[in-house]
Amino acid sequence: MQLFETRQAIREAVTAARREGKTIGVVPTMGALHAGHLSLVEACTKACDFTVVTIFVNPTQFGPGEDFDKYPRRLEADLEALAPYGVDAVFAPTNEEMYGPRHSTYVVVEGVTEPWEGACRPGHFRGVTTIVTKLFQIVQPDVAFFGQKDYQQALVVRRMVADLDMPIEIRVCPIVREPDGLALSSRNVYLSADERRQARSLSQSLELAARLVAEGLRDPATIRECMLEQLSQHPDVRVEYVALVDPETMQEVASIDAPVVAAVAAFVGETRLIDNRLLTPAEPSSAGA
Ligand code: PAF
Repeated sequence: MQLFETRQAIREAVTAARREGKTIGVVPTMGALHAGHLSLVEACTKACDFTVVTIFVNPTQFGPGEDFDKYPRRLEADLEALAPYGVDAVFAPTNEEMYGPRHSTYVVVEGVTEPWEGACRPGHFRGVTTIVTKLFQIVQPDVAFFGQKDYQQALVVRRMVADLDMPIEIRVCPIVREPDGLALSSRNVYLSADERRQARSLSQSLELAARLVAEGLRDPATIRECMLEQLSQHPDVRVEYVALVDPETMQEVASIDAPVVAAVAAFVGETRLIDNRLLTPAEPSSAGA
């Protein structure tokens, strides 16, 4: 596994691999790697001949007052975590390498970026789509791997790749959870012990929604209320949104007669966490037929 810090060096490595007929896979990350990232890396090394993991805390996707400065940066530990996985290249550039002093070009996806994460974090998706485009331009992968925890992000990237005719397959891998259900996130390290206990409520609210749908409830407003009621029992949990949305458009649904995504964002203390779950209503029973 080789570490590259410049665009030119990683490009040369990828070009050499491609010349040997290898397929190229990329796992874009901001580092502070956990088992969720490593599941993407594993999927990538299985599917592709040459795996590039990018590690870059992208300043343009953080808003003013967000956690850009304190976001965990631990390249050495990340390289150790990646060592057993058969990764070929790690691309860990500096800010200066990625954004020159006159940088003034951004990639904006409309529509699907607007609600939820887009509304709570203005400019966030513009930063994500810009850096992902730059990483795709540099690495030129055949396949790119994203996690379902950032459900809206994965949808936005898919939209961008389709709209801009990027010849890249986007694969989205399942959320990896702690045994108590908390979705793995690099931001979980910010939580105090008490906040960590309360953070379980996000996945618990999604489990509740799944149970209600499995029991036959079809009214999103009632399900949302039950989720909010469950979350409100935790004093340090401040909900930003709870939504039941169409998996393709991120628009709220009026009734649950096809799969929907339940999505939640909340501050637990000072830490903003997100989670989601696909809810699939049972087929109408054919009893009596
Ligand atoms: O999901 C992330 O870690 C980031 O948003 C990404 C895709 C690496 C872009 O900076």
